[in-house]
Amino acid sequence: MPEFARPLEIAVFVSAQGRGSNLQALLDGCSTGQIAGRISLVVGTSAAAPALARARSAGAEVVIISPKRFEGDEAGYGAAILRALNRRQIGLVCLAGYMRKLPEAVVTALPGRIMNVHPALLPLFGGRGMYGHFVHEAAIASGMKVSGATVHFVDEQYDTGPIIVQAAVPIEEQDTPADLAARVLGAEHQSYVRAAALFAKGRLRLDGHRVRILEYGEEHT
Ligand code: GRF
Repeated sequence: MPEFARPLEIAVFVSAQGRGSNLQALLDGCSTGQIAGRISLVVGTSAAAPALARARSAGAEVVIISPKRFEGDEAGYGAAILRALNRRQIGLVCLAGYMRKLPEAVVTALPGRIMNVHPALLPLFGGRGMYGHFVHEAAIASGMKVSGATVHFVDEQYDTGPIIVQAAVPIEEQDTPADLAARVLGAEHQSYVRAAALFAKGRLRLDGHRVRILEYGEEHT
């Protein structure tokens, strides 16, 4: 069982194209004290990600763990990630535009400690291949009047883990996928900060596939 630092040390994972707006929301949430924790580590899959500049200017350590270097060696990729997390006693991992499935060993090692944000109201419009504009195109084509953001715990599949926080936004008649993406992004930022803040306060409890948000004072019972 790994040791977790107090106050909470958070790692954020981003992928190659990551622009890092969710990372920025989490950095801001920590610096304003809304999230009782610190983003001490940002893990990128490639040195080119624009998100990494945001991480560095906020003083977070940046580590590149390239899945390409571990092609065909999921165990090696997972072990490299776990070494980086354990060295810093990371207690919460936030995936923010990390476009891959985490190695199973990582998911298993940190049960209930890995979150992801998805730009739709799961379980709708999730799963393999549902990312970026594909999600918003599908939401508009469905005829639904709302879409939104979901923050959920990560399990071994894409987008199926227990839901922590959701926020809905309207789908307007004239919306393009880009219009909807921009509206949903604001909901993502708010939802992610709220989910991380609740986690840091010990207010999230897994109850089967449901996540209960504990009242103040209930945390230690
Ligand atoms: C977000 O839309 C998130 O839901 C998805 O990837 C995008 C990342 O955006 N998983 P950003 O890099 O945080 O701006």
